[in-house]
Amino acid sequence: MKIAIMGAMREEIEPILAALGNYTIEKYAGNIYYHAEYAGHELIIAYSKIGKVFSAITATIMLERYGAKALLFSGVAGGISKDLKIGDLIMASALCQHDVDITAFGHPEGFIPESFVMIESDEDMRSLASEIAVDMGVDLYEGIIATGDQFVASSERKEWIEKTFNADALEMEGTSVACVCQNFGVPFFILRAISDAADGDAGMDFDTFLKSSAQVSAKFILEMVKRI
Ligand code: ADE
Repeated sequence: MKIAIMGAMREEIEPILAALGNYTIEKYAGNIYYHAEYAGHELIIAYSKIGKVFSAITATIMLERYGAKALLFSGVAGGISKDLKIGDLIMASALCQHDVDITAFGHPEGFIPESFVMIESDEDMRSLASEIAVDMGVDLYEGIIATGDQFVASSERKEWIEKTFNADALEMEGTSVACVCQNFGVPFFILRAISDAADGDAGMDFDTFLKSSAQVSAKFILEMVKRI
């Protein structure tokens, strides 16, 4: 099967490329797409750059130009749930956009007319991930991931996101990628390892833990590819 693997930052896909060793590259629409074969699958890999716009562009290209039939996202997130510590893994059960606000027209937070507040990820991939977590002996948390075009470094903002969306973690690309996949009818899986707690220390923690947490997520994603 042709599988897309996406990250937002170079650090998020570097461990995957390093594990593959052999790949070819293609430049398209302001980005680099890496082609490789792994575990009997054809892979198309890219990092989009940060945020909802760039990640939507990359996801669309992976599905439309390269014909990916499933999409796996690997990266890091700010933890909201007290259960999540730096380095812990969370897979999204559902995703929402915490920075969409047309409440002035009576709509709920995060809602866009003719769309949904929450987008659910693929159930089969989540079950597979749960099995893999048991086999690998790692804890895999499942919960709601909130996306926005903001690096959240404030307990106040984090608590608002938790209260409003019941979110467990936050980041800047998951929901835009989910939205693309949902609209094209392609199953997707969003995995994040915690790099910070989205509080006043988030900037420093992110810089400290980006690489190690990205590595935790990438390792799990490679196991997923082997078992799809
Ligand atoms: N990704 C990792 N940490 C984050 C944070 N605190 N805010 C937004 N995206 C993140």
